Amino acid sequence: MTSNELRRIFLDYFHKRDHEIVAGSPLVPGNDPTLLFTNSGMVQFKDVFLGAEKRNYSRATTAQPCVRAGGKHNDLDNVGYTARHHTFFEMLGNFSFGDYFKQEAIRYCWELMTEVLGLPPAKLWVTVYEDDEEAERIWFDEIGIDRSRFTRCGEKDNFWAMGDTGPCGPCSEVYYDHGPEVEGGPPGSPDEEGDRYIELWNLVFMQFNRDASGAMEPLPRPSVDTGMGLERMAAVLQGVRSNYETDLFVHLIDAAADITKSTDREDKSLRVIADHIRSCAFLIADGVVPANEGRGYVLRRIIRRAIRHGHRLGTAEPFFWRMVSALEAEMGAAYPALVRRRAHIEQTLRSEEEQFSRTLDQGMRILEESIEGLEGGAIPGETVFRLYDTYGFPADLTADIARERSLEIDLQGFEREMEGQRARARAASRFKAREDESLDIATAFCGYERLEDESVVVALLRGGEKTQSLEEGEEGMVVLEKTPFYAESGGQVGDRGWIRSSKSTASTPASDSGFEFEVVDTCKQGEGAVHVGTLRKGRIALGDKALAGVDETARSATARNHSATHLLHAALHLVLGEHVQQKGSLVAPDRLRFDFSHPHPVSRDERHRIETLVSGWILENSQARTEIMPLDQARQSGAIALFGEKYDDPVRVLSIGDHSTELCGGTHVCRAGDIGMFKIVSEGGISAGVRRIVALTGEGALAWVQTMTDRLDRIADTIQAAPEAAVERLEALVARNRELERTLSQLQAQTASTRGDALAAQSVDIAGIKVLATRIDDTDIGSLRQIVDRLKERLGTAAVVVATAKGDKVSLVAGVTRNCTDRIKAGDLANHVASQVGGRGGGRADLAQAGGNDPSGLDQALRSVGEWVQERVG
Ligand code: ALA
Repeated sequence: MTSNELRRIFLDYFHKRDHEIVAGSPLVPGNDPTLLFTNSGMVQFKDVFLGAEKRNYSRATTAQPCVRAGGKHNDLDNVGYTARHHTFFEMLGNFSFGDYFKQEAIRYCWELMTEVLGLPPAKLWVTVYEDDEEAERIWFDEIGIDRSRFTRCGEKDNFWAMGDTGPCGPCSEVYYDHGPEVEGGPPGSPDEEGDRYIELWNLVFMQFNRDASGAMEPLPRPSVDTGMGLERMAAVLQGVRSNYETDLFVHLIDAAADITKSTDREDKSLRVIADHIRSCAFLIADGVVPANEGRGYVLRRIIRRAIRHGHRLGTAEPFFWRMVSALEAEMGAAYPALVRRRAHIEQTLRSEEEQFSRTLDQGMRILEESIEGLEGGAIPGETVFRLYDTYGFPADLTADIARERSLEIDLQGFEREMEGQRARARAASRFKAREDESLDIATAFCGYERLEDESVVVALLRGGEKTQSLEEGEEGMVVLEKTPFYAESGGQVGDRGWIRSSKSTASTPASDSGFEFEVVDTCKQGEGAVHVGTLRKGRIALGDKALAGVDETARSATARNHSATHLLHAALHLVLGEHVQQKGSLVAPDRLRFDFSHPHPVSRDERHRIETLVSGWILENSQARTEIMPLDQARQSGAIALFGEKYDDPVRVLSIGDHSTELCGGTHVCRAGDIGMFKIVSEGGISAGVRRIVALTGEGALAWVQTMTDRLDRIADTIQAAPEAAVERLEALVARNRELERTLSQLQAQTASTRGDALAAQSVDIAGIKVLATRIDDTDIGSLRQIVDRLKERLGTAAVVVATAKGDKVSLVAGVTRNCTDRIKAGDLANHVASQVGGRGGGRADLAQAGGNDPSGLDQALRSVGEWVQERVG
């Protein structure tokens, strides 16, 4: 039975038993920052188990891609060392949300395994949680399993939890016995880690929710979560002992052997590469980008581990990316995203490989040296840290190499070094920490509706510390009870404007007794909005009534840029592809900046298409609408939300026509037409796989276009062409210029050799060396070199120096033919002359250059050369 058939049979079996077939969720859990990656089928149902989310079905079945590398469930270190561990695998599961419980779960499992898939009961082994008598009774009395093939296990094996917090419960597992030829003992025995007894299916009886303190609350309704490893079951059904021998892996291993030119198909490095390409490709397809922290760092670690194994097999060229096509052939039909994003996956892997290959060799040398000097035991923490910090070796990569040599790494020492580095970073930012002191004040925001409002001063800060009042001329921060000022967040900069005593109005200056505080920025501190600026006039004190007025011009410019950012984001998806994800954004009055994942530069043509799309939407002039809705509803409606970002619930959703829908708390235009004009002004890379676009809108865009057309006009004037013909004319001029330069240098060479020939006659013979020191004015250093070269050629055995003076600047070139550099060095000769004209020089033994700023000494200096040579060779 092929793996694809097994997947289908499993889903069909449960579908026939009233289970909804639900698509697997992405590897990056959409709304769970506590979890690095989707590590089992239940992740997408977490909130359903907790009772926080309702679905219109109470039974479900899925085939779920999972990654277990980093976090609570981490199999990375085992890959390559066992026949059954993977960073990526598929979990087949059935779920009951308060519907059936232990009895049906156990029955379904047994029926599917023994009757549908035909596994002999004598080859199976069952475990239950140590005090789960109910499950034990069902297995014995209702199913009638062999009691000698059964164990009760403790918390470590038979109590399952998604992570440190979240749904959990006791479980019951079914193992397959690969027979006495394979090493290993039954579950619960001391040698259970071997490959003989393999866990195939885990039935979790979800009963609790564990909180951060470890306390367990019962779930609203007992539920079921099960997981069967597709790869392991496939191995059993295909009669092979290792997952790597199943249909899922043989072609990947063949491809890895081919690409790395390895002949030993049993080599564990091939297995590691075949395993790692699956997790890496799926993670990249789901939007993860290699990075130095978080999810991106886990991806980077897996990629680098794979690259190192290629290196171990003797592969010098980037190879890992070439595995993508083999993976696509294997899994593309079940997972179309692999096909759609193939180019993106390949690019990402390739550039990561190119980057790491620069330090891999060097790092390996350092590591080998360290291992050589080692007397058994562990690689020191400092070495592990140095490899990490300077050569980009993740600690687990070093540990993997160590393990091959039966060594360990000093993990504690490594952690100490890391902590030291963090402490240094903290010390550097201590100043900032003080400014961040929490205020514990919540400011109400009324700036969506109006730009001017009455309020009361509830806190004042000077130098980051609370104070009762500020005096005229002082810089500080003002906190109001409510404010129309937008505090920097979500990439949108804080508003600026004025806070005046409320006796005045925001647009007329304060009377003599009033105050005026100029706001240059607004930022968040906790729930509070802090207005940063200078008290221009009067005195401001706690409790003062105030009128806060936002700078309207700046705010509307910012709003234009913010709405344009959303349209840009939507256009990027259409033009570049769905893989584009926001990686950062800045929305200011004068520009917008948008960082996003994309593996290569955005071409000029793509930029034009993006601009055309956005401009089309602006012309359509659709309304920008905001709506407050529950987070789930927002997600279901397809609103763009950022991975890993925490959102309030309910959320604010901003849509512009039907072109863009995003979760957003920022301020926007009323209609798309308000943006006026949109222009991309730059595009570039900021790190591997991340691009940055800077764009302008409204008046800013117009001003930019005007400046650029002015420049074009000036260029056209200068080259005497119409702007429309300027490019062709300029190209012709550049070509002509190149031609002229060529002719000129030919002429110079001719002149130099004529001059050289003429000068050669003036040389004098000193102990067999032809010596010449002379001056040619009105020439440049390039010509001097050519003359010196020519003289050396003509004279055969010579020491020459030729100088030129222009204004108060002296340049000179000294040359000595190779056959006498043992006696005289050109560098010394140049220096001898230069030192008499207020300079210094140096260079090679056969050619040197120097300068000076005192031409008055030049003639005498040149006259002294003969004697200087005489002293050395006479
Ligand atoms: N969630 C359970 C597991 O991953 C089924 O083993």
